[in-house]
Amino acid sequence: MREMFVFLVICGVFGTSLAANHALCGQQVTKVNDDSSHYVVGGVNANPQEFPWQVSLEYNSAEVGWYHTCGASVISDEWVLTAAHCVDRSLDGAMYRCVVGEHDRTKPEGKEAIINVIKVIQHPSWDTSKIVNDVALLKLSRPISFSGNESHVRPVCLPDQQAVDNIVGTKCWATGWGHTQWQGQVAPILQKVQVDITTQSSCKSKYLFVTSITEAHICFGEQGKGTCQGDSGGPLNCQVGGKYYSYGATSFGVQCAGSYPSVSARTSTFSAWIWQTVSQN
Ligand SMILES: *[C@@H]1O[C@H](CO)[C@@H](O)[C@H](O)[C@H]1NC(C)=O
Repeated sequence: MREMFVFLVICGVFGTSLAANHALCGQQVTKVNDDSSHYVVGGVNANPQEFPWQVSLEYNSAEVGWYHTCGASVISDEWVLTAAHCVDRSLDGAMYRCVVGEHDRTKPEGKEAIINVIKVIQHPSWDTSKIVNDVALLKLSRPISFSGNESHVRPVCLPDQQAVDNIVGTKCWATGWGHTQWQGQVAPILQKVQVDITTQSSCKSKYLFVTSITEAHICFGEQGKGTCQGDSGGPLNCQVGGKYYSYGATSFGVQCAGSYPSVSARTSTFSAWIWQTVSQN
């Protein structure tokens, strides 16, 4: 039995949706020339604000203070989507904060804002042994000013419920500040890697003796291209009809971008829960 790894950094001593996406969702701030097959593991530096919904989720540890633990995505002015396992250590919002507008985590670049978290909501069916329903919502302490001084921050669109293989073949970008190789280190600058979505049947057969891949999972990547520790909760950015949708929230793999595909929580499976939870909280 292979061991699965969820992709957070632990630091220290070691269908139909009820509400629509935000009107601004999925629009890039910086126009980018995607001229090559850019390659998190196997990635290259993203351009500043190329993925303006990308969040660095920080955790307050007793030993080292605030540090980058996971990725997350802005989905509205007050809500951020991440992985359920990223908040397993505590459901107290005071233990987390979100950095929006971030690019190079090692220095201030004038666009970052640190926003506190006032509510942490894990998916009610989060199953830590099967790593299924690995999504959580974080409510911010104040709205992001999309039309004011934070117009370089944008929400990403979320897809509605759809057939699992509907987007096989779509080119997407996995992004994060996670380790650039198995047992490596977190990246200072946001990394992006272009990946193909894996068919559900091939992902199921690859993971046959490890775990069951369900309709709540989406698989992507190949040897040398994928996600790793520190990328958890971050988006799987797929451009459809001129807008970016996040098709996944980074969840787990076997080591990092080895012979197993990377696996994310399939956001389309959760869109109804997400918008319902947002509207009720
Ligand atoms: C925008 O202004 C608010 C209120 O003054 C401030 O808290 C926030 O940090 C600013 N955001 C950025 C990105 O500078």
